[in-house]
Amino acid sequence: MTPDNLRPPLLQTIGLGKTYALPRRQLWQAPPQVIALQDVDLTVYGGRNVGIVGESGSGKSTLARLAMALDKPTTGQVLWNGQALSAMSGAALRAARRDCQMVFQDPYGSLDPRMTVQRIVAEPLQALSHTSRAEQREQAAEALTQVGLHHNDLDKYPHEFSGGQRQRIAIARALITRPQLIVADEPVSALDVSIQAQILNLLLDLQQRFGMTYLLISHDLAVVNHLCDEVLVMQQGRVVEQGSPRQLFSHARHPYTQTLLNAVPQIAPGRARALRNLRAKASSNLV
Ligand SMILES: Nc1ncnc2c1ncn2[C@@H]1O[C@H](COP(=O)(O)OP(=O)(O)OP(=O)(O)O)[C@@H](O)[C@H]1O
Ligand SMILES: [Mg+2]
Repeated sequence: MTPDNLRPPLLQTIGLGKTYALPRRQLWQAPPQVIALQDVDLTVYGGRNVGIVGESGSGKSTLARLAMALDKPTTGQVLWNGQALSAMSGAALRAARRDCQMVFQDPYGSLDPRMTVQRIVAEPLQALSHTSRAEQREQAAEALTQVGLHHNDLDKYPHEFSGGQRQRIAIARALITRPQLIVADEPVSALDVSIQAQILNLLLDLQQRFGMTYLLISHDLAVVNHLCDEVLVMQQGRVVEQGSPRQLFSHARHPYTQTLLNAVPQIAPGRARALRNLRAKASSNLV
């Protein structure tokens, strides 16, 4: 049921499942299968950030890929603004792709080293609309300044930037279509602690300015706790617990959530300080 004070769902998954067939080991045997995702129901309302936490291999990235129509589900479906993604084609699918963008984990591997920053950042525009080169350059420059980089950076290549700057480039690329939803798959886990806080801050600032919603994937409950209104805990392809960060922190019911929570106080002092600063800045922004 949709509570009255919520905006309508942007993204929903209903009974979503994905099974991968692995290469056949013997000719006469059926190929072995991996059940990556099972029966996942998820609702992301506009303006309410949702976090997904879970151990490695629990299906988080699979869920993100299915939600972004980068892969097809084996069972269930994904609804974008109430419409089934599987039934979309042509202009409707292009519009859904424009409205939902992704930031990947690895700022080193996810940016093509042979492409200039301008081409990288403007790439979603090229795929989606007939924008002239001059307009693309102008919009890419604007997106770069929005993430704290400079328009002079347009003609550089990814190797000329630090990890944090590269992640800013990846965020500029996601931002350029003015999406309603950004799916960020471990956006800070490859970065130094102090840089992690800067990038999380940037995500919060951009949300304040442009009103997009985040689906944030992280193995770090502290990061998800900070940015999200709702958290789903995944284990072995299933959602094992779900609730507000406050509910999870005060009464986690599932033993696996408890294990994740036990890991939180072990955050290194520098990291805890960075997250505290971040939280303080965010709450002053949010009032
Ligand atoms: N293309 C694929 N072919 C076969 N198996 C896959 C494929 N993609 C994912 N899997 C398997 O599906 C399961 C879930 O993988 P997934 O990448 O979604 O996990 P994850 O929660 O994102 O893990 P991590 O935290 O390490 O990124 C794993 O067992 C993985 O090996
Ligand atoms: Mg992953």
